[in-house]
Amino acid sequence: MLKKDLLEFNRNVFDELNFKWGIITAGDKTTKVNSMTVSWGGFGVLWNKYVCYIFVRKSRYTHDILDNTDSLTISFLTDEYKKEKIYMGRISGRDENKYEKSNLHITFDPDYNGYYIKEAQYAFKMKVIYKTDLLDLPKDIMDNFYKDNDYHTMYVCEIKQYLENLE
Ligand SMILES: Cc1cc2nc3c(=O)[nH]c(=O)nc-3n(C[C@H](O)[C@H](O)[C@H](O)COP(=O)(O)O)c2cc1C
Repeated sequence: MLKKDLLEFNRNVFDELNFKWGIITAGDKTTKVNSMTVSWGGFGVLWNKYVCYIFVRKSRYTHDILDNTDSLTISFLTDEYKKEKIYMGRISGRDENKYEKSNLHITFDPDYNGYYIKEAQYAFKMKVIYKTDLLDLPKDIMDNFYKDNDYHTMYVCEIKQYLENLE
């Protein structure tokens, strides 16, 4: 596990998120922990902090966990793990223990008080610093994405650490 300077990060985040997908993991030592696949999000700068934006629908089990913790990591795995990424994005942690049923494992970092995916090629440890429900949206977006009222919460996360080559 190698701690890296965030400014050395030089991957194409559009490709990484939209095509390779990330796995977010929410939870700390006082809460349950769960992971799910994401392809929406972004990296940027806000309030003079390096941040990552994640969007989680209210129906997700991960959303329930995020009501009780600010520890949220995003892990990126090579496509060797495509099957596991699909599993993490199809099954809910409410129905199955996703770590027992997949080849993926979590590593707990006591200093950070949170978990990331052990098999990740690289990962970001983060703390949620702001969240808001995305409700007041243009009609075409409402019609396209929210007919069932399953709205997204946007989580703005401060990036605390960037890790590479974790295995
Ligand atoms: C490629 C891919 C990308 C996804 N991106 C998101 C996302 O950005 N936000 C979201 O709420 N759900 C997203 N999902 C759906 C969740 O990963 C899925 O509903 C998951 O089973 C939720 O797990 P949970 O109930 O254990 O939290 C995505 C699924 C896939 C397969």
